[in-house]
Amino acid sequence: MTAFPLEPIETASLDELRALQLARLQATLQHAYANSPAYRVKFNAAGVRPEDCRTLADLAKFPFTSKADLRDAYPFGMFAVPRQQCARIHASSGTTGKATVVGYTKNDIETWSQVMARSIRASGARPGDMVHVSYGYGLFTGGLGAHYGAEKLGLTVVPFGGGQTERQVQLINDFRPDIIMVTPSYMLAIADEFERQGLDPSRCSLRLGIFGAEPWTNDMRMAIEQRLGIDAVDIYGLSEVMGPGVANECVETKDGPTIWEDHFYPEIIDPDSGGPVADGEFGELVFTSLTKEALPIIRYRTRDLTRLLPGTARTMRRMEKITGRSDDMMIVRGVNVFPTQIEELILRRGELAPHYQCILTRDGPLDCLTVAVETRPGTAPDSQEAQRAAQLLQHEIKSFIGTTARVELRAEGGVERSAGKARRVLDQRPRT
Ligand code: DLL
Repeated sequence: MTAFPLEPIETASLDELRALQLARLQATLQHAYANSPAYRVKFNAAGVRPEDCRTLADLAKFPFTSKADLRDAYPFGMFAVPRQQCARIHASSGTTGKATVVGYTKNDIETWSQVMARSIRASGARPGDMVHVSYGYGLFTGGLGAHYGAEKLGLTVVPFGGGQTERQVQLINDFRPDIIMVTPSYMLAIADEFERQGLDPSRCSLRLGIFGAEPWTNDMRMAIEQRLGIDAVDIYGLSEVMGPGVANECVETKDGPTIWEDHFYPEIIDPDSGGPVADGEFGELVFTSLTKEALPIIRYRTRDLTRLLPGTARTMRRMEKITGRSDDMMIVRGVNVFPTQIEELILRRGELAPHYQCILTRDGPLDCLTVAVETRPGTAPDSQEAQRAAQLLQHEIKSFIGTTARVELRAEGGVERSAGKARRVLDQRPRT
C-alpha cells in the first residue's frame, strides 16, 4: 500500500461504479422531484416521474436544465432544501443579466472538499506540500473550492486570491510553495512578472500547476511547463454542477480530465437536436449531480464542447480537453472558429507571446476577425521577424482553420490581462 492510497471507488470495477451511479441517480431524481418545485414542474411537463429511471440510459427521458432555468429561479428557487440549511452560497457573474446562484449544504461542502482533495492528489500533490492559490476567493468557486480541498488533503494553503501580481511573485519567492492553482492565462502574467523583476521563472520553487476555469490547449501546457519547469495539469468544473473538481487530469497520463463519475454523471449530446451521442463522439457536455443536496442538478447543459473517452489512470471516464464553449465559438463568414485553434497556431511562433484576443467587427455585411497578439519581450512589433511571424500566422489561420483573419501585433502589455479568466473574444459587431 502506498502512503496515500487512492479512494477505493477510483479503482473499483466499472460494474461497481455503474451500480453506485444508478442508485445515486435514482435517489437524486426522487430528491429533486420531492423537494424542488421547479424540478417537479419540469418533470411533470415532460411526463416523467423519478420511478421511470430504471437504468442509467433512462436518464435521457428527463428534461435538460439550463442556465436560463437557474436565472428564472433567481436567487434560490431551484434549491431542494430550505435556505436555512445552506452552509454556503456561490454565484457566477456571467457577462450578461443576473448572476447564477448556487447553494451548498454542509454535506455538499464536504463532498466538494473531497473531490477537490482527490483532484489535487491526482495532480501529483501530497500532504505536507505547500500550495499557493491564485484563483479568486469570494463568490467565484475557484478560490474557496481549491482551499477546502487542499486543506482536506493536508496541504499548507496560501490563500492569495487573484490580482496584485507583483506581490504574488514576492510571496512565491519568499514562501517557496510546491504547487500553484490559478487560471493558465494568469499563470503567464505571473511568469511575465517574474521576468520583469529579473527572476527566472523556471528556477522558482513550484513543481506543479493545477490550471483551469478557462480553455487552454496542449500547446499552452507545453509552453507553461517549459517556462516554469513544472507539471501542468487540467482541472475542470463549473459552479452550477459544484465548482472546480468535477474532473481533473491525472499527472501520470496528462490525457484529459478524469471525471469523478461517482458524483457527477456525464453525457454528451448533439447541441442542436439534444439527442444522445456515443462515447468518443464530439458534442455538448451534460452533467447530472449524483450526491448533491442543496441544488441537485439534472442534465445540466454546460455548453462546453468535448467528448468522453475511456478511463486510463482510473476506471472512470475522461473528457477530452475542452476545445471551447459554444458561447465562444465565432462564426466568421460561415466558418466556425474557436479561440483555442488560434492559440495553437500562435504558440508555434517563437516571436509571439501567448497573450491574445480575437476581435470581431463588421465591414458592411461581412464579419471580420482580427487577432490581436503580443510579440515576445525584446521583439518589436514592427521588426522584420515579428512582421514575418504575423504573415505566417495569418497564412496558417487561413490554411488550417479556413478563415481570413487580420493579425495585429502589439507590444508587451498591449493585450488586456485578467487576474482570472481571460476574455478571448471581443465582439464589437453592431447588435442587429
Ligand atoms: O470556472 C470553476 C473552476 C474554478 C474550474 C477553478 C476550474 C478551476 P464557472 O465560473 O462556473 O466555474 O465557469 C465554468 O468555465 O463551463 C467551462 O466553460 C470553463 N472551464 C472551467 N474549467 C475549464 C477547463 C469555474 N479546465 C466554465 N478547461 C465551464 C476549459 C473550463 N474550460
